Parts: sequence; C-alpha cells; structure tokens
Amino acid sequence: MTRIISIVVGIGFTVAVLWAFAFGVGPAFSTFAKHGQFVEPTAELELHKVAHGPEGGFSFDGPFGKWDYAQLQRGYQVYKEVCAACHSLQYVAFRNLEELTYSEAEVKAEAAQYQIPKYDPATSEVVTQPGLPTDQFPPVPYFGTGHPPDLSLITKARHDGSNYVYSLLTGYGEPDPEVLAKFPDFEVPAGMSFNPYFANVNIAMAPPLTTDGQVTYADGTEATVSQMAKDVSAFLTWTAEPTLVKRKQTGWPVLGFLLFATILAYLSKKQIWASLKPRKKD
Ligand code: HEC
Repeated sequence: MTRIISIVVGIGFTVAVLWAFAFGVGPAFSTFAKHGQFVEPTAELELHKVAHGPEGGFSFDGPFGKWDYAQLQRGYQVYKEVCAACHSLQYVAFRNLEELTYSEAEVKAEAAQYQIPKYDPATSEVVTQPGLPTDQFPPVPYFGTGHPPDLSLITKARHDGSNYVYSLLTGYGEPDPEVLAKFPDFEVPAGMSFNPYFANVNIAMAPPLTTDGQVTYADGTEATVSQMAKDVSAFLTWTAEPTLVKRKQTGWPVLGFLLFATILAYLSKKQIWASLKPRKKD
C-alpha cells in the first residue's frame, strides 16, 4: 500500500515538474529560438538606450576626480531656476551650500529667499518664515501629471546616476523610425514625452532644458542645453554624495598604509623566523 502511494506521489511530482517546464521554461526557449532573446521584444525594450556621460566626462570621474566648484554653483543655479519649479531638494540644508564655496553671508541671504513652513509651539500652528541656514530646502507643491521625485539623492537612486541624469535631460527626441516600423501599435501616451533613457521610454516630465541661454550664468559660461544638463547633473551628484571626492582622496593614503603594513609584516616575519633554520634534507 505504502508503495502504491509513493508511486502515485512520485508521478504527481513528475507531472508537476514537466508541467512547469512546458509552461515556464518551454515558451522562454521558443521565444529565444524565435527572437534570439528570452523575452518577447517590445517597442520599449528596443527603444531604450543605456545612459552615457557628457563629452569629456565629469571632473569628479575616476580615482583622482575633483569637484569643479564653479560648475557646482552653476548647477545649483540651474536647479533653482528650472528644476525647483517641480522638484524638491529636501535632504539638503542651506548651510551645506557653504561647501560650494559660498560665503556664510551668501548662504544666509540664499536661505532667506525661501519660505519655510514651521511649527509654532506658542499657537500650535504651522507658520511660514524666511529660511535660516540650518533649514532644509522646503517641499515643492506640484499639481501636474506624474510625481516629480525629490532630487537630493536621485543620482544614487539610479544606475550610473550622474550620467543617467545628463542623458535623461539631453535625450528627448523622436523614437527611431526603424524600430517604430516593427511596432506600429507603439505610441507615446498623451501628456507624456518620449525619452529613450527613461526606464519605459515615456516620461511625465516635459523636456525641462530646451533652449540655449535658458539661464544666464554669472561666470560667463555659455549656457548651452548640454552645459546646463552637465552642470545640474554634477550638482545633483554633490547633493547625493557630498563626500565623494573626500572618499576617493582618502583611498590613497589608505592604500599607502596597507602597502607599508605589508612590508612591515614581511620584514617581521623574516626576523621572527630567522633563528629557525630549515631542516636539512638527508
Ligand atoms: C514642469 C515640472 C518639471 C520640471 C521643471 C522638471 N521636472 Fe523632472 N520630473 C518631473 C516629473 C513629473 C517627473 C516624473 C516623471 C515620471 O515618473 O514619468 C520628473 C522626473 C525627473 C527625474 C527622475 C527620472 C527617473 O528616472 O525616475 C529626474 C532625474 C528629473 N526629473 C530631473 C529634473 C531636472 C534635473 C530638472 C531641471 C533641469 C527637472 N527635472 C525639471 C517634472 C519636472
């Protein structure tokens, strides 16, 4: 009796495994045979592009990377004059801007331009007051389509963040007609814009940087779309990881110390084992 039950259970398992194979792996392989990939091709998959950085890269790229403070200040200006209409920067405090080589007085004046909602313990009400350097950037009300994310940490929240933000800002355009010919049903939904760098290629953000000279840089740098995109991407890299350059610079002394410690360890090993002569072979 036990034997019959185990045979039936065994057959049951075998059927389940075959079933799973037939309806799970099987179609994946036939899709692979048909298209050379395990997933059914879609217009979104084929139109999607991998992010790339600006020409010449960023000043903070590589093991010797450094901030370009003039660029970070320009990037802050782009954020303030363009992006801040929709995106908040809630995890950055005004006093952090001193790191961009602004003076204390400039930071104070900067903070005072913003109205910050604060809880007043005397009246138990929320009142808005001019910002202080210790305040963080206030939330930004938004009533349009989609949800603009807070930008403080965005370059950390996306793969290859600095390059991604740059590509996203400069990557709007029309879908490749060759790919479109293969997918006649593909269309960009109303109110969305086509952007091949965004995960599903249709983004609810209209192109924010459209014309050269959209901002006027105080340092005389020509504000091309690419330049503004590069500057604001650099600025958002700083907001997400202000210690990036310090981290890279700390690495070198650490490597030097490790090398030194290795040499010391080797020499002391030699010293300790010096008296123990290897046994002579007979
Ligand atoms: C008119 C409003 C508006 C402006 C101005 C604007 N954005 Fe956006 N942004 C949005 C919206 C809405 C989304 C959400 C898009 C979505 O999820 O489809 C978004 C999304 C983003 C994202 C996230 C994309 C992702 O991968 O999820 C980044 C990065 C971004 N914006 C950067 C910027 C920068 C930098 C600027 C300034 C140069 C800017 N935005 C200006 C509305 C705006």
